[in-house]
Amino acid sequence: MNALEEYVQLIEEGLEKINLPKTPENLYQPIDYFIQIGGKRIRPVLTLMAAELFGTKKESALPAALAIELFHNFSLIHDDIMDDAPLRRGKQTVHEKWNSNIAILSGDVLFVIAYQELSKQSRDHLFDLLNLFNKTAIEVCEGQQMDMDFELLPTVTVEAYIEMIRLKTSVLLGCALQFGAIIAGASKKNQALIYEFGINLGIAFQIQDDLLDLYGEQKSVGKQVGGDILANKKTLLCILAEKHADQKNALLLDEMFKEKDPELKISKAKHLFKELEIFNKCSAEKEHYMKLAIDALTAIESPTKKDLFFEISHFLLNRDA
Ligand code: IPE
Ligand code: IPE
Ligand code: MG
Ligand code: MG
Ligand code: MG
Repeated sequence: MNALEEYVQLIEEGLEKINLPKTPENLYQPIDYFIQIGGKRIRPVLTLMAAELFGTKKESALPAALAIELFHNFSLIHDDIMDDAPLRRGKQTVHEKWNSNIAILSGDVLFVIAYQELSKQSRDHLFDLLNLFNKTAIEVCEGQQMDMDFELLPTVTVEAYIEMIRLKTSVLLGCALQFGAIIAGASKKNQALIYEFGINLGIAFQIQDDLLDLYGEQKSVGKQVGGDILANKKTLLCILAEKHADQKNALLLDEMFKEKDPELKISKAKHLFKELEIFNKCSAEKEHYMKLAIDALTAIESPTKKDLFFEISHFLLNRDA
């Protein structure tokens, strides 16, 4: 999305300036590798945009924005171990390229480096920023644990799924946005509204991620296609399939969960989901949360225009990468 370029560039420059020690190589090279292989940088861009929305220069929120992106990258390195994922951003994951012990430790350091960046923000805001960051980090771990626990359950309700993705994904988008608002000195009311926008945007964003996992192109998504199916993840696709299946389809779904052959498992899932019109059902759910996000955004009283926020929301929820 062209309008975002100047924000992304600021983030890339900021990331490049982070001076990592050279040794031990097996600790720092994986971090450098993972940051360099890119990603959309959507969360730090949201921090910069929120700072501007409430009347502050985007540069003043750069350390907080970088902290968010570093935390996100840490969470992905560990997530890829948990999900046994071979590919990320079109490249080998850290635990594949090195090993799991290295991925755990370099992820841990990255988490601390995120705090180092955040502490560069001015003292007036640091207390609020740290409180929100700590709360968010704990919630992300709670969501990640629920995500793994759900793999072992036969069924999960839509409500439980939404709560799980609110924690593993949405709260970080909410935090990224509220960071910008805090730094710009926005009112508590506006901080709450931009956070709520982030929560609903994040839920819709994760539903799109679930859809892309099965229906995306590996070349653009940069992740293994069907990874969620192979791990028996309770994504919205599976949950809605279970909810709408008659007796015959319920048996087919059960068969799919038990299938060991990877290709067959994915093709069984695709076939069943097609019959149950799962793509459309997930898209409708995504639209519902998108609307809630837009409502929160509309309620914000800001000195500047919100056009870019509407644009970025549309882009994120219809993305193919
Ligand atoms: C992936 O996030 C993890 C989710 C919460 C779905 P992104 O899709 O933003 O990943 P990158 O940073 O662009 O690679
Ligand atoms: C990841 O969710 C959320 C976090 C990393 C906290 P996913 O496991 O669906 O993300 P991808 O699909 O691997 O990017
Ligand atoms: Mg995961
Ligand atoms: Mg994953
Ligand atoms: Mg995913």
